[in-house]
Amino acid sequence: MIYFADIRENLMGSNQSSAVARDLYQKCREYRDSADARAQGFYPYFRCIEEPHGNYVVCEGERKIMIGSNNYLGLAQDPRVIEAACEATRRYGAGCTGSRLLNGTVKLHVELEEALAAFLQRESVVLFSTGFFANQGALSSLTEEGDAILCDRENHASIIDGCQFAPARLVPYRHNSPASLRNRLKRLPDEAGRLVVMDGVFSMSGDIADLPPLVEASKEHGAFVYVDEAHSLGVLGPQGRGTVHHFGLNDEVDIVMGTFSKSLGSMGGFIAGDGQMIEFLKHRARCLIFTAALAPAVAGAVLKALELMQEEPERITRLWENTMKMHEGFKRIGFKIGTTKTPIVPLLIGSEAKAFIFTQRLFEEGIFATPAIYPAVRYGEAIVRTSFMATHTESDLDRVLEIFEKLARELGTFNDPAYVNPTRRKNVFDFRLPDAAGLEEVRADS
Ligand SMILES: Cc1ncc(COP(=O)(O)O)c(C=O)c1O
Repeated sequence: MIYFADIRENLMGSNQSSAVARDLYQKCREYRDSADARAQGFYPYFRCIEEPHGNYVVCEGERKIMIGSNNYLGLAQDPRVIEAACEATRRYGAGCTGSRLLNGTVKLHVELEEALAAFLQRESVVLFSTGFFANQGALSSLTEEGDAILCDRENHASIIDGCQFAPARLVPYRHNSPASLRNRLKRLPDEAGRLVVMDGVFSMSGDIADLPPLVEASKEHGAFVYVDEAHSLGVLGPQGRGTVHHFGLNDEVDIVMGTFSKSLGSMGGFIAGDGQMIEFLKHRARCLIFTAALAPAVAGAVLKALELMQEEPERITRLWENTMKMHEGFKRIGFKIGTTKTPIVPLLIGSEAKAFIFTQRLFEEGIFATPAIYPAVRYGEAIVRTSFMATHTESDLDRVLEIFEKLARELGTFNDPAYVNPTRRKNVFDFRLPDAAGLEEVRADS
């Protein structure tokens, strides 16, 4: 087989320098992880859904109960939301073919921004094409060299990546710890601008941010506070307004970020806050200016979903009934579910391989869930991450509990070191990308 390096050498001729540039594809050819998992029959990713129905999906021609989705309120399949997407497409076309700044703003974008600002009781809102971009755009634009972004160690990857684009220094603090935050804030130079960023609900552990003392510590030290409401919108607070409203801290928190890809059943994201700050982002955030606007179908669907979320509060009530049933049910069986307080329920499994096997067995038994492994969680503490919806029925949930109990016995889950020797906890997952050397170092040490 001829690779690029060989071709380049041929083109350059033999009288050129003998130094050969690194072959960028070498690592791709050497990448085996997914092929190995497929060969062993437990590859859990990119599963193709043939028919999505909300609480269940059809995969490989078979019905599976869906407990791996963030469709908390079941709005992604609501016929009224789908019809709103179709109507928006008929009216405004399939796409905007340009950025919001230039030719890509349609009336629906403005209506959605106004509706969200009213819902969240904020001066202004700007939409982004994804939640990931909302974090990246805001975090990279709002800080300057010499500033610091103080970041909970368990924050979502889009926050961490957003910080990499920012000129400010990234300063991690211990998960949900006001003491650690205070400590970090104290050590900053007086003149440094400071932004404290946290998930409102943490996407892996299901924890709720301990907002009151974290906000207090931030304000003591002149920091702005930024809360990512991706998993809390539609879940917490009056009418699903999120963690900030849940704690009654709307006046104290400066910036709220949210996504449409979870409770609101679609895709896209937003930043909400002070009008002048939003005006600045609209003209400075590169991933807003240099990317195409949210498709009209998406804006139409989200507007309708936002309306239904407010008109049908029974969805949130049902979501919480289902959530409490599953917390209790899993604990009764013997699973460790960590510190979750929300519909995100992480089931501790232990080793990565066991989490993959558990997920595969679930799939064979008619349940769609996904594993999370290092570096998303601590090494040796791989989980099956489950999340529950308003539209799950009692019989769906009973069946899920029955299968988890059966598989925990079959696979000896409760004998894993994560259960019998939990003191060997390794705090090694934060902010590290799974580079080969780093991963080997972590594994060797565990
Ligand atoms: C906490 C958090 N923030 C941001 C995002 C990114 O949102 P999106 O998927 O809408 O791009 C996610 C997605 O999973 C998330 O969990």
